[in-house]
Amino acid sequence: MVTAGGTREPIDPVRFLGNRSSGKMGNALAAAFREAGAEVELITAAPPPPAVQGLRVAEVETAAQMHDAVWAALDRADLLLMAAAVADYRLRWVAEHKLKKSAAGMTLELVPTVDILESLRTHPRRSEVLVVGFAAETDHLLVNAMDKLRRKGLDLIVLNDVSAPGVGMGADDNAVTVLDKDGAVLTVQRDAKLEVARRLVVLLSERLPRPPS
Ligand code: CTP
Repeated sequence: MVTAGGTREPIDPVRFLGNRSSGKMGNALAAAFREAGAEVELITAAPPPPAVQGLRVAEVETAAQMHDAVWAALDRADLLLMAAAVADYRLRWVAEHKLKKSAAGMTLELVPTVDILESLRTHPRRSEVLVVGFAAETDHLLVNAMDKLRRKGLDLIVLNDVSAPGVGMGADDNAVTVLDKDGAVLTVQRDAKLEVARRLVVLLSERLPRPPS
């Protein structure tokens, strides 16, 4: 299972809170795993990729919808790649009608969304699934990524430096370091996202709880 894109949290019928995630890395992962013969389910908050044979796609909008889709799909997954940029906050109240402009300014009240990866600690199939998080960081890269790996109970985390030129959110290329609880296990220099994804397929296939037959 691969998640992709940036979730959108509605403000009113015509506006949302979002982020710059394009879904390209998640789409590349889905394509690379299909290429390698895996059955792939893509849960995406970005526009779905052009049809890839055998790829199952579920479109979601909000963090809550992605949470529900991930929980359901984990029942049939061996591997979860959580490449989506999930919103950390949502509106406490979503306006039923379009908010009107006023000269007085406006304050939006935000409340935290559910942390999907952290919530999986209690999923009945958690121990049978290799769970991989993604960390897009701009500073203290390794420390922040390691902290996320521990806090969210992940098997692996894929770190990318989104402040580096030409890689990360929205870009066509990526450069990543993969960490497990003992430290870095793979570094991929800048390359097209599909090539980076292919390197991850090799690494992750070796670490699956049940190796492919
Ligand atoms: N993630 C998640 N649920 C959330 C937020 C993030 O499952 N509500 C997942 C992302 O899909 C990613 C990993 O957690 O795989 C790290 O996401 P990131 O946004 O870097 O981490 P946060 O916990 O949101 O920390 P911060 O924004 O403070 O860096």
